[in-house]
Amino acid sequence: MANGVTVWLTGLSGAGKTTLAERLLPELENRGHRVETLDGDVVRTHLSKGLGFSREDRDENIRRIAWVASLGTRHGATMIVSAISPYEETRTEARERIGDFVEVYVKCSLDRLIERDTKGLYKRALSGEIKNFTGISDPYEEPRDPEIVVETDTESVEASVTKILEGLEQAGYLASRSSEAS
Ligand code: ADX
Repeated sequence: MANGVTVWLTGLSGAGKTTLAERLLPELENRGHRVETLDGDVVRTHLSKGLGFSREDRDENIRRIAWVASLGTRHGATMIVSAISPYEETRTEARERIGDFVEVYVKCSLDRLIERDTKGLYKRALSGEIKNFTGISDPYEEPRDPEIVVETDTESVEASVTKILEGLEQAGYLASRSSEAS
């Protein structure tokens, strides 16, 4: 059985974490991985329902996600997490709990995020309507030593996906295409 791993996508809201997770999923499945995704927005509708955006609630959300990811990873799955996960200490805690952990910093400039504003949240955060918004009125601690960095304001989605797959391969977590049949 393939080694399980958690691919942890961290970065600001709108940076492209969910898009990358959705694109990675078939790429990994085609290589024979069993893949599950844990997306912050989705998790907050069930497992983390009722949690807000204080540090305490965000940490609780990340701990729940890490706990589920650790179970899947332990059983050989590739778990793709996409959550802002703004605090270094809590990401480190997740890394230690999970063990087989590849951190991907999905990096995008704030200027570009404000310009894109796909969900209209930055506008509302800038006007003060949404409080404690990451990057505007709440901190985002950049990863100090991530395994992979993708820059979504300058790279294409394809280029970022390729970078992540290469990073997984280098770390010894990518099944070769030849193992598809097994
Ligand atoms: S985390 O900080 O706990 O990791 P998570 O990834 O689950 O965050 O959820 C982030 C999503 O919640 C954002 O993409 C956005 O759609 C929504 N959101 C609502 N309020 C906030 C806020 N104050 N800060 C950040 N994201 C928010």
